[in-house]
Amino acid sequence: MAVEFSEEAEATFQDLISRYPNNLAAMLPVLHLAQSEFGWISVEVMDYVANRLDVHPTKVLNAATFYTMYNKQPIGKCHIQVCTTLSCALMGGYEIIDYLEDTLGIRVGETTPDGRFTLSEVECLASCGTAPMFQASFCDGEIEYFENLDAERVDEVLKELNEKLEALPLPKDMH
Ligand code: FES
Repeated sequence: MAVEFSEEAEATFQDLISRYPNNLAAMLPVLHLAQSEFGWISVEVMDYVANRLDVHPTKVLNAATFYTMYNKQPIGKCHIQVCTTLSCALMGGYEIIDYLEDTLGIRVGETTPDGRFTLSEVECLASCGTAPMFQASFCDGEIEYFENLDAERVDEVLKELNEKLEALPLPKDMH
């Protein structure tokens, strides 16, 4: 994969860096842009971002690995991110992860062989009052929350998600 922004992404990049006092301050939005452009943040993408921002690659590595919203591996059509921070943990977040692992046949950090689902564990998603919950991020950029989960509700949600995923193409880096 050639790591270079498309014309459209390049225009967004130029706009972004013009709105921040220095390139370092623009790093997080530029990483978002890179993720939507390349699908995930590989070492090559980190190097590209460091080059384009003229910052040391370790600064990009630190930011990309600190924040869970930057994907360090190819992601399936639907990225299920289960919150296991306090409220969700107390309300059964880890049981939701166990159930998803059993049902999808993958472990946290993995993608189903058909490229449909990637499963991750994340920090608080600001929906603590409806714990336990997960966020589903789709390859078309849509994001949806599923809340007050239990095994029965997870089954329903996976059915809904599978129907929705029929209409979505595999992300370009999953072929
Ligand atoms: S603790 Fe899970 S959303 Fe806040």
